[in-house]
Amino acid sequence: MPTTLKDLAGSAPHGGALELRIAGPEELETLRSEAAGLPTIEAKARRVLSDLELLAVGAVSPNRGFMTQADYISVVEDMRLDNGLPWSLPITLSATDEEVAALEVGKRAAIVHEGKPVAVIDIEDIYDYDPKREAELTYGTTDDGHPGVAYLYSQSPHYVGGEVTVLENVFAHEFRDYRLTPKQLRDKIGANDWKTVVAFQTRNPIHRAHEYLTKCALEITDGLVIHPLVGGTKGDDIPADVRMLCYDVLMKDYYPRDRVLLSVFPAAMRYAGPREAIWHALLRKNYGMTHFIVGRDHAGVGDYYGTYEAQEMFDRFEPGELGIEPLKFEHSFWCNKCEGMASGKTCPHTKEDHVFLSGTQVRQMLTDGIEPPQEFTRPEVARILIDAAQKQPS
Ligand code: ADX
Repeated sequence: MPTTLKDLAGSAPHGGALELRIAGPEELETLRSEAAGLPTIEAKARRVLSDLELLAVGAVSPNRGFMTQADYISVVEDMRLDNGLPWSLPITLSATDEEVAALEVGKRAAIVHEGKPVAVIDIEDIYDYDPKREAELTYGTTDDGHPGVAYLYSQSPHYVGGEVTVLENVFAHEFRDYRLTPKQLRDKIGANDWKTVVAFQTRNPIHRAHEYLTKCALEITDGLVIHPLVGGTKGDDIPADVRMLCYDVLMKDYYPRDRVLLSVFPAAMRYAGPREAIWHALLRKNYGMTHFIVGRDHAGVGDYYGTYEAQEMFDRFEPGELGIEPLKFEHSFWCNKCEGMASGKTCPHTKEDHVFLSGTQVRQMLTDGIEPPQEFTRPEVARILIDAAQKQPS
């Protein structure tokens, strides 16, 4: 069973192969003109476009489209695809009553954005779902104060399942130089001859605690990929373009160039905590990673999840079943007595010696133009964040 660092080298995509769902140049024009005459489903949210990109590049392999009811139910209820492979979050396409009225199982439809077809779907299934059940099982709450649940409740009550062929990646121009597909990232990893590679998921600027985790992880792996999520995030998260400036300064001055890559992860944030941690890991496996960092309250929001619930979720699977190894980290901080970064596991001192700032405190400091202490965030990062906060309309 592949449980050691060495054994995991060169991890295969989930299910065995990368399933690329982007139209080839030879079929593009034919599909475009066909799409013009097809019934349509509007890509109503940014997340749908992000999911299409993930499908296009094979990041959600072995999925080849939006889930049919069999996969959907199996994933929501048991965290497995219908064929038994682990999979923790549904990938779904909702359609309105009017849209559904024009659709037929066995036929094609166009998925459109701003009046233009961006993909076609070969319809295998049209079904209704229970939003409360999906919320309860995937998010662990039915509270619409949770951003993922609110999104779910905002959808229409029908899902359309079937394989997609993507005609256009709407976000291709964003962070173009950093937008490596699983295939491209795998090629880079191969060129560097890294046998073990750890992925770092983040939706935040890299503060000292994040930097600490990544560097601890790099101590035991050949390479590190900083893989910030740049699909949709909730309104009070720091926007991706500002974060990219922060990652860039750190890449320049604080990470070794020959062992660290920066590349963006085009998924939208779900804030599904434990289930999203598994999803984040499986997608990174498709990007060629062998290891995945899971710290405190991974992909959490508010106080919906326990601090280490996401880490515990990995234990629900048999060793080796996910095909990517979680590297679990305790809550980390700067300790004044240790005079360095430490964690609940390594530091013998008390809270009074630890530098801790809540998200709200940090936001307030940045808005007021105050640099958080350098034990919390590097001054170069603080300056970028203050600049951005000051430019925001109040
Ligand atoms: S997340 O939504 O992407 O999980 P964030 O960008 O804050 O949010 O976290 C990225 C990763 O770093 C996650 O694995 C998270 O658990 C971990 N992490 C963030 N802050 C800390 C911390 N102080 N101590 C330990 N792990 C942390």
